[in-house]
Amino acid sequence: MKLFFNPASPYVRKSIVVAMENGIRDRIDIAPVLLTPVNPSDALNADNPLGKIPALVTDVGSVLYDSRVICEYLDTLGEGKMFPASGPARWNALRLQALADGICDAAILARYETFVRPQALQWADWVAAQKGKFMRAVSALEAEAGTLDDRIDIGTVSVAIALGYLDFRYADDNWRAAAPVLAGWHQKFYQLDSLQQTLPEDLKP
Ligand code: BEZ
Repeated sequence: MKLFFNPASPYVRKSIVVAMENGIRDRIDIAPVLLTPVNPSDALNADNPLGKIPALVTDVGSVLYDSRVICEYLDTLGEGKMFPASGPARWNALRLQALADGICDAAILARYETFVRPQALQWADWVAAQKGKFMRAVSALEAEAGTLDDRIDIGTVSVAIALGYLDFRYADDNWRAAAPVLAGWHQKFYQLDSLQQTLPEDLKP
């Protein structure tokens, strides 16, 4: 399989972590790609018309996207332990994944506004609104942090990675100050090998 990859992307990281947790990381070849919405990759566009990472080319040549589809697919190739099969555990894990991905969506939109958009066109209210969105999500997670415990599923892994992305790109916003219980959970959960082995470059010890 081939995975279009950028080490800074939390969605790519989630896909790699799911592969590692399923014991199938060695079946994936990495295709590094550098892109922004205004500087796309032709190679990626040829496989994913949306031009977004991650995209996974399977062994039979199908292309899967986005990260939610890729993660669920990878989970079927291994032990299948990341996606609870049914019932409340499944819906809770999928909801947490959606909340975590929403944190990343807002954080990346704010980053594009400040690092990609020409300075004269930047809109401070837009950045503030995106930051407001991810901080509201952090507060919602703080309210349920006591229920996250040490189970490893797509929900908890997605939350850990989203908070790791905030550490990576928004360290000055200090989400931990607003979420001390969540911070305690994250500190412990983040010791998971697959998370430690996929830290964004700048956070590697
Ligand atoms: C980043 O540099 O923060 C980034 C790069 C690729 C995808 C998402 C985020």
